[in-house]
Amino acid sequence: MAILVTGGAGYIGSHTVLALLQRGDDVVVLDNLCNASREAINRVEKLAGKKATFVEGDIRDRACLRDLFASNSISAVIHFAALKAVGESTRMPLEYYENNVAGTVVLLEEMRDAGVWNFIFSSSATVYGADAPVPYVETTPIGGTTSPYGTSKLMTEFVMRDFAKAEPKFKAIALRYFNPVGAHESGEIGEDPAGIPNNLLPYIAQVAIGRLEKLGVFGGDYDTPDGTCLRDYIHVVDLAEGHLKALDYLSKVEGYTAFNLGGGKGVSVLEMIKAFEKASGKAIPFEIKPRRDGDLPAFWADASLANTTLDWRVTRGIDEMMRDTWNWQSKNPDGFR
Ligand code: NAD
Ligand code: UD1
Repeated sequence: MAILVTGGAGYIGSHTVLALLQRGDDVVVLDNLCNASREAINRVEKLAGKKATFVEGDIRDRACLRDLFASNSISAVIHFAALKAVGESTRMPLEYYENNVAGTVVLLEEMRDAGVWNFIFSSSATVYGADAPVPYVETTPIGGTTSPYGTSKLMTEFVMRDFAKAEPKFKAIALRYFNPVGAHESGEIGEDPAGIPNNLLPYIAQVAIGRLEKLGVFGGDYDTPDGTCLRDYIHVVDLAEGHLKALDYLSKVEGYTAFNLGGGKGVSVLEMIKAFEKASGKAIPFEIKPRRDGDLPAFWADASLANTTLDWRVTRGIDEMMRDTWNWQSKNPDGFR
């Protein structure tokens, strides 16, 4: 039996495929490569010393899914495939709902028809919306999302919840990621954003490598210790390991359930800059800019449910996140290209 990983050539997917192969699982990757490179999977296979089956295809393509389920024996699906740029989602909401929500519905229908009932979904802390109390805890109702991207994650959780109510065989876990950063310690795989990065750490790394001149810090007057926003950054390898724990836990799940995957601590933008400078020995020029629309001042996870139920916790801190980001960026100044 193999694990189907949709979006497995992407940033978090590739680290998870590596962890699965390293523990001996068979893996089928389905990715349309709209935001990834085939090279990521080549490198994963080299690191693991084991091959994955790679299918270049789309989760919205029924014929492709049917063929995939018919020709591989799949025990569970880890579903990363999605569009993920918040700003872009406000300009192209229909594309986001079509890809992220309708695409997941097609995937679930084809899973049902193939008799595959185990499902893990990449959700996001963003599903708690703008007004949830901090730290975020799974018992807080989700909703109040502020972008089509965020709403697409919320809607997908609702689709999972309702399908699980109707179909007792369906077992589903939504993993709500906080802020994934870092790279595999080998420096062979990491985050390779197309164009100018939206997210903080890829931006910092590209300033360090000389591809960008200066970081803009969005807001220096928040009600936080140093005036910049606080986020719960999580090392991508810790996050990948969370997926393995969730996979192992699926057999105990009844219906649909959700876990926060975060470290449980808020770190400021200025602290991130300092930590990166320490790890890389590079100065990061920055300038305080106006607040970015839609940014929340501070949020972090209460991850105690994942700690106790999944027996999962983060083991890598900010220093490792920075070391591994810099290692990846300096070894691959142009990403996978
Ligand atoms: P990514 O863009 O690197 O990975 C997504 C992968 O899915 C890419 O390889 C892309 O080519 C593929 N893909 C997209 N649409 C597809 C489709 N229709 N059919 C097949 N493949 C498709 O992003 P990531 O950072 O690795 O994120 C993975 C998942 O985690 C996404 O669902 C994302 O929304 C979610 N997430 C990410 C973050 C983050 O900060 N990176 C935070 C919370 C949640
Ligand atoms: C963003 C998304 C969120 C998504 C997450 C992961 C928004 C509003 N939120 O979260 O929905 O789940 O990415 O993809 O886009 N920052 C700067 N300068 C920069 C970039 C970022 O100061 O050039 C600051 C931001 O203001 C924020 C922090 O760094 O305070 C982290 O930003 P980012 O990495 O974009 O993550 P989020 O905004 O938390």
